[in-house]
Amino acid sequence: MKFQKRVSARNQNSQASEIRPESFDRSGLPDAVVEPTFHVFPLFFIVFWSFQYLMHGLESKLKATLDSRAKRQILRRLPSGTTSLVDFCSNDYLSLSSNEGLRKKFIEELSKTKFILGSGGSRLLSDVPGHDKLERRLATFFNAPCALLFNSGFDANAGFFSCVPQPGDVILYDEYIHASVHDGMRASRVPQSTFAFKHNDLNSLEDHLNRLIEENMDVSKGLANVFVAVESLYSMDGDFAPLQGIVELVEKCFPMGNSHIIVDEAHSTGLYGENGRGIVSLLGLENRVTARLHTFGKALAGSGGMRNSLKSLLGLTFAIIAVILTTPIIRHYLINYARPLIYTTALSHSNIINANCSFDMLESEKGVKVFLLYPLFILYLNHRSYQGT
Ligand SMILES: Cc1ncc(COP(=O)(O)O)c(C=O)c1O
Repeated sequence: MKFQKRVSARNQNSQASEIRPESFDRSGLPDAVVEPTFHVFPLFFIVFWSFQYLMHGLESKLKATLDSRAKRQILRRLPSGTTSLVDFCSNDYLSLSSNEGLRKKFIEELSKTKFILGSGGSRLLSDVPGHDKLERRLATFFNAPCALLFNSGFDANAGFFSCVPQPGDVILYDEYIHASVHDGMRASRVPQSTFAFKHNDLNSLEDHLNRLIEENMDVSKGLANVFVAVESLYSMDGDFAPLQGIVELVEKCFPMGNSHIIVDEAHSTGLYGENGRGIVSLLGLENRVTARLHTFGKALAGSGGMRNSLKSLLGLTFAIIAVILTTPIIRHYLINYARPLIYTTALSHSNIINANCSFDMLESEKGVKVFLLYPLFILYLNHRSYQGT
């Protein structure tokens, strides 16, 4: 590499005029101004060309992967917004997203409140009393020791599973568990100690539990914990977990209490249990599971936008909010270690107002009526599908 000796007038007679790259003092700037000449340009082109080559190499690899997905007919695309197809797969079950009552109430509450936009930063930095209040309300509503809000169900699962299991612990999960649990497990301290059992299969779960007890001394002595991750209702097949059986089996295998059942109620929230409290509540298992996840973007119409129906049906128009119901120590631990909670901006005040309006409706007479009608609606759909209509 060559540099031209070009020295400012100020230093023309100084030693600096002798500066070469080899003698360049990297601890500080040289007295002389050393500027590159045209000799540097070939180097620039080499770097530029290499960069172009690398980019091209990357893009061709990405394209090959996408092409392979397309060949297997699993290529994902964003919806164009112009489709005229009938939607059978969004969360807008009852197409009631245009609930006038809720909309009016929400706008009324927003106009009464000074702070509606933003939240000021991470939950750990901004003092947001509305968030605390909503958490207390949700803990009471769901009959749990305490609650912690997350910006989404994905964040909640990823946050929980990445930090709560401790070194030496083991995670057993239903093979159909949501991707967010997988992401959490991958980032956890026990990525090699995670095992899938067959979907909704108590025998498969029992085999795994027995093998653990036989082979893992720490687990059998109660020195390490076993987490069992399930969903109460699986969306792809629409089937329920045998929750009662799972709880009884796990308690029987671990009488020392070193087992923890974590139930994702994303698809049962708002639909099952009294006023939509979920299946754990319906079965009275609140005190026998370690944590529950309720997301407000499914039946309560958050993710998928504000057009989700049952959410609207219930007057629930959440953006994307989720809550973990658990013990005070686990909540405190999550506040300290769950990265998706710590390193993100907290939910805006309008999200919290929205959630409160929706829960007002959920707990109102109207909400109760919906819960009386909803099972009839499901029966009707089942009846139609059995008849092939
Ligand atoms: C079972 C389950 N858990 C968690 C999530 C994530 O919830 P959210 O949409 O609030 O991020 C989903 C969403 O698809 C889900 O189906």
